Amino acid sequence: MTIAQIQAEILRLKKEQNICILAHSYQAREIVEIADFTGDSYALSVHASKTPHYAFLMCGVRFMAETVKILSPKKKVLLANPAAGCPMAEQMDKELIQAVKAQYPDYTVVAYINTTADLKTVCDVCVTSSSAVQICRAIENDKLLFIPDCNLGDYVARQLPEKTVKLLQGGCPIHAAVNLGELKAMRFSHPHAAVLAHPECTPDIVAAADYVGSTSGIMERAISGSENEYIIGTELSIAEHLQYNCPGKQFYPLSKKLLCPNMKLTTLPDVLKALTGRGGEEITLDDDTIHSARRCIDAMIALGS
Ligand code: 13P
Ligand code: SF4
Repeated sequence: MTIAQIQAEILRLKKEQNICILAHSYQAREIVEIADFTGDSYALSVHASKTPHYAFLMCGVRFMAETVKILSPKKKVLLANPAAGCPMAEQMDKELIQAVKAQYPDYTVVAYINTTADLKTVCDVCVTSSSAVQICRAIENDKLLFIPDCNLGDYVARQLPEKTVKLLQGGCPIHAAVNLGELKAMRFSHPHAAVLAHPECTPDIVAAADYVGSTSGIMERAISGSENEYIIGTELSIAEHLQYNCPGKQFYPLSKKLLCPNMKLTTLPDVLKALTGRGGEEITLDDDTIHSARRCIDAMIALGS
């Protein structure tokens, strides 16, 4: 089958089954083309909680599918490729966080949404990269324990000097691998380009960027910006999607290392297999996990609105 034939079959099946296909913006172009909704992790979770669909197919990584299930427990949620996990989401377990909480009982535990449902059950508030600063500012407590991404946590702490933010050593191995030498070399090659970086990058990259934001923030800044050239400091797909959206502008990935192998595990044939019952995995979470993890996500939604 050609790509176009697989896409046509996917479109037919999703209509027949009334299933909503969600794609994170790090997915490949051919998947974004068949999705009902594409966005960053925050936008995906909010969209899933509002749409009337009964079933969702997540093209992204496991924690994103779990978040949809937590917000819509009565609905069917499939993960297109069961092997697609986020290494950062699995870096810390409940036991570790419970031990740290016992040491710092007066701290509010803030969990990046890139965490497992199980870990969320022992945290107080969730944040995403697009909402982290706003939500941490709105938390009444001035003492925050931010997990698992120390780069995003450092970025939040610098924006909110009034807060005491404790960090643990976790993070995204893909974004954290980019170094300042690469950024300087890119600026030298493209002196008129604006550098847009994700806050999962290290503090030196964040400090040297012209704009710092989530994947959708980066896309909005690049689309609306007056510059003609952009150096994109997040997963490679974003520079590619932007190049399709804005053919009159130039987009350069900050580093070739910015390829998330987990996000790229999901293929168009995986989507087809999941829709025909020959692949994918239905996300199941027990009621207690859903209930406890949801407190954390509801707190995020309440503080962010
Ligand atoms: P966003 O919250 O910007 O979608 O990022 C998710 C992610 O996995 C970034 O690496
Ligand atoms: Fe996880 Fe990093 Fe991949 Fe995002 S880019 S899914 S944080 S490994």
